[in-house]
Amino acid sequence: MGTNINTGNDDSQSVRNKDIYILGIESSCDDTSAAVLRNAVLLSNVTASQAVHEAYGGVVPELASRAHQQNVVPVVHEAIKRAGITKEQLSAVAFTRGPGLMGSLLVGVNFAKGFARSLGIPLIDVNHLQGHVMAHFIDGVGCPPYPFLCLLVSGGNSQIVKVHAYNDMEVLGQTIDDAAGEAIDKCSKVMGLGYPGGPIIDRLARQGNPKAYQFSEPHIPGLDYSFSGLKTSFLYNLRKWVADDPDFIEHHKEDLAASLEYTIVDILMKKLKLAVKQTGIKHVAVAGGVSANNGLRNAFQDHARRYGWTIYIPKFSYTTDNAAMIGIVGYYKFLDGEYCSIDAPAFSRVTFE
Ligand code: KG4
Repeated sequence: MGTNINTGNDDSQSVRNKDIYILGIESSCDDTSAAVLRNAVLLSNVTASQAVHEAYGGVVPELASRAHQQNVVPVVHEAIKRAGITKEQLSAVAFTRGPGLMGSLLVGVNFAKGFARSLGIPLIDVNHLQGHVMAHFIDGVGCPPYPFLCLLVSGGNSQIVKVHAYNDMEVLGQTIDDAAGEAIDKCSKVMGLGYPGGPIIDRLARQGNPKAYQFSEPHIPGLDYSFSGLKTSFLYNLRKWVADDPDFIEHHKEDLAASLEYTIVDILMKKLKLAVKQTGIKHVAVAGGVSANNGLRNAFQDHARRYGWTIYIPKFSYTTDNAAMIGIVGYYKFLDGEYCSIDAPAFSRVTFE
C-alpha cells in the first residue's frame, strides 16, 4: 500500500509511494498510550489507564508520572507487536509535547526522544489539542472537508475551533474558567460518585428526567464559555436539598445527572450554533473526552436534522486521550518534513500555536 501525496517539500520524491510507519506516544494526563499507523491507517492503539487516581476523586500528578514511567515501555512494545512490524520499520516517532501535566508529559517526551535517537529516525512533536481535532482523519475515511468547525470538549478544554488545515487552527471561543469535562467531574465528585465523573453521569442521565432541575446558565458574550457558575449553582442547590433530606442524592441521582448533562449540552450547543451562523460553515465536528457523551452526541444528530449540518462524531475509542490521534498528526507532519529537535521542551499550557 503506498501514499501518493504531494508533500511540497524537497524530500517528497522519497516519501511518495513508500509506506510510512509512525509510532505515536501520548502521556499528557493519566493515560499512557502508544499507537502505530501505516500512512493514515491505524494498525494498533494500546492504552494503559491509571486506576490509582480513583481513590482521590481526580488525577494526582505525581502518581500519574510514576505510573507513566511503569507503563510506557510495555505499552510501546505491545503497540509495535500488535501492529505486526518491527521497531526498525518505523519512519518516525510522534509524541505529545503539550499541553498537559508537566510530569506526565516529561515521561512520554523523553521516552520518544531516546527511542527516536536510538533508531536514528525523525522526532515529531504534536500539540495534544490538535491531536483531538485530527482524530477525525484516522483511517482516512469520512474526514471533514476544510474548513470545518470543531467543538473540542475535554477535561481541560472547551473550545470552538475553526480548522483551516491540519496545521492551521483558529480558536473562535473557549472557556474563561472551567472546562465542560471538569465541571461534570466536579459535580460528580460533590454527589459522591466516582472519578472520572463523565461516564458515570452519562450512564445515570439515561434513566433520569433532564428537566427535573434547573441550574444557572452563563451569560457570556460572543463564543466563549463559562462553566464555573453552573458548578457553583449545582453545589449550592445540592447542599440545600441534602440539608432537607440526607438521602436526597441517593433518591434523585438519575434526575440530577440528567439535568446537569442537559444544561451542559445546552450551553455547548447554543454557542456552537452561533459559530455556525457567524461563519456559515455547516461541517461540524466534535472531539475530546466529553464527545463520548450520549446526550451531546444526540444533540449533534438533532442539530444536523434541524439545521442541515453535516456532523462528524468520532469513534468512542478516539474520544478520550489516545495515541492514534497523535500518530495521525505525526503522519501529516512527516509528509511535510516538520520534525522537531532533540532539545524541544514539553509545555504544560498554551492551546494552538
Ligand atoms: O479528552 P480527555 O480524555 O482528557 C483531556 O484531555 O482532558 O477528557 C477527559 C474528560 C473527563 O472530564 C471525563 O469525565 C470526560 O472527558 N468524559 C465524559 C464521558 N467520558 C469521558 N464526559 C461526559 N460523558 C462521557 N461519556
